[in-house]
Parts: sequence; structure tokens; C-alpha cells
Amino acid sequence: MNTDMGGKKEDAGREVRRFADVSSLQASAAAEIVEAAGSAVRERGICRLALSGGSTPRALYRSLATPPLVSSIDWERLELFWSDERDVPPDDPRSNYRMAHEAIVSKVPVPVAHVHRVETESESPVEAAARYEAAIRRAFGGGTGIPRFDVIMLGMGADGHTASLFPGTPALMEHDRLVVANRVASMGATRITMTFPLINAARLVMILVTGKDKAPALRRVLEPEPGDALPAAAVRPVNGRLLWLVDGDAASLLDGAV
Ligand code: 6PG
Repeated sequence: MNTDMGGKKEDAGREVRRFADVSSLQASAAAEIVEAAGSAVRERGICRLALSGGSTPRALYRSLATPPLVSSIDWERLELFWSDERDVPPDDPRSNYRMAHEAIVSKVPVPVAHVHRVETESESPVEAAARYEAAIRRAFGGGTGIPRFDVIMLGMGADGHTASLFPGTPALMEHDRLVVANRVASMGATRITMTFPLINAARLVMILVTGKDKAPALRRVLEPEPGDALPAAAVRPVNGRLLWLVDGDAASLLDGAV
């Protein structure tokens, strides 16, 4: 692990960038998104981006929706999705869609038809997951292959979960579906989540991790001991880039941490 902040360590397809503070981490994440969106639009006429939930990315979304960054993205050529969603209404304070809608979606000219939220008002989380998977497939022009997102954003919990792929939950073993309803017994809740096959098909997966509480899990993911197998460690894009953006607190237990 690189010892100086802002340093990077690269293994095959995986890059870990460490930052002295959250704002420089978010600036780097924003630059990556602007770059990925620009090349996707140049090469394919559209950029398909999946947003992560939780609290870490909120300031990043706000920065993308304000000058100067807001003029760096061709919003009309962007399609927005979510990496996962809680089983709550879209206007619920816990909703990942609501957080992103407040921080960015309501502030930029992404066409309404390009905003693909999980329809949690469906009959059940299972129905919501099926509808969301169908919506993803439609957005990619149909077909039975695995859609390849340009960017999938993720976070990581202190237990090593990512998206809503929590330790010991059924979705970890899903190898066919793109999206599933995942019962998280430890939370007494069901979540709707992208699965590893869909996540690992992306061109770029960015995982943003900040805070001391994440340090033990981050070490177990990036520098695993024998037997360690936290969900976030299974994010390994098959033919894409994996970019970890971590702050000093989250990286404090990694080799070379000062
Ligand atoms: C969610 C997210 C989840 C999140 C991590 C980190 O629905 O909460 O998808 O995977 O990214 O729990 O959350 P924080 O950024 O709030 O620490």
C-alpha cells in the first residue's frame, strides 16, 4: 500500500487511491465520472451510470450538479440507475433514490426517461427487482447477455457489504439474475440489489470508502488473511477497472499506513 496520501497502488485491474481528506477523494471520484461519461458518449453516444446509496456519495453528487463540474457532463446523454435500493417508498428519507434526487437528479437536465429508479411501490421487493432487471435490460436494448455499465458506483459498510450484498445473505450466491431482492436478516429488512454478475461486467467500478469504522473491513478486503471473504472482495470486474477511493481513516490499518 502506498505510504503517501493521494498515492495509488495498482494490481491487475485494481487501483487503490488514498486521500488525506474526503473532499479530495470526492474531487477525484468526480473527475473519474466526468472522464468516463465523456468517453462513453464519444464512443457509444450514451453513458450508463449506476449511483450508490448511503451517505458517502451525497457531497460528490452535489458537486457534479454545481459549477464548474455541472457543465462537464452531457446530461442529455446520461442514463441513471441505482446499485441498490431499500424497500421503502421513493420519498422515504431512507431511499437511495430520494438522496440522489435531492443531491443531483433534480438539479441536472437528465431526461426523465433516463432516470431508472427501483420501483419499490411494486407488489413486493421480488416484483420490484424483476421490474428493475427488465428496465435495465430494456435500457441496454434488450438481449439476454449481461449489460455492461459504463460506471457502477459502490460504497462499503463496516461489515464489508457493498450495494446490498451483505455477509451471509442469499444474493451473494446469485450467478444468473442481474438484480434480486435480498433478505438481510441482520437488519430485519429486504433490499433490492444489483448482483455480482452485473457489477463485475462494468467498464469501471468505483468504491468510495471513508471513516475509521470501515478500516477493519477495508483491510480484510484489500489485504485478506486466509479465509477472509467479505462481500466487497468479490467485486472484481471481469473486463474493466476497479477503482477504490479511500480516505486516510478508512485506510489506517492497511500496510504502509502512516
Ligand atoms: C446503501 C448502500 C450501501 C452503502 C454502504 C456505505 O443502500 O446504504 O448501497 O451499500 O454504500 O452501506 O454507506 P455509507 O456511505 O453511508 O457509509
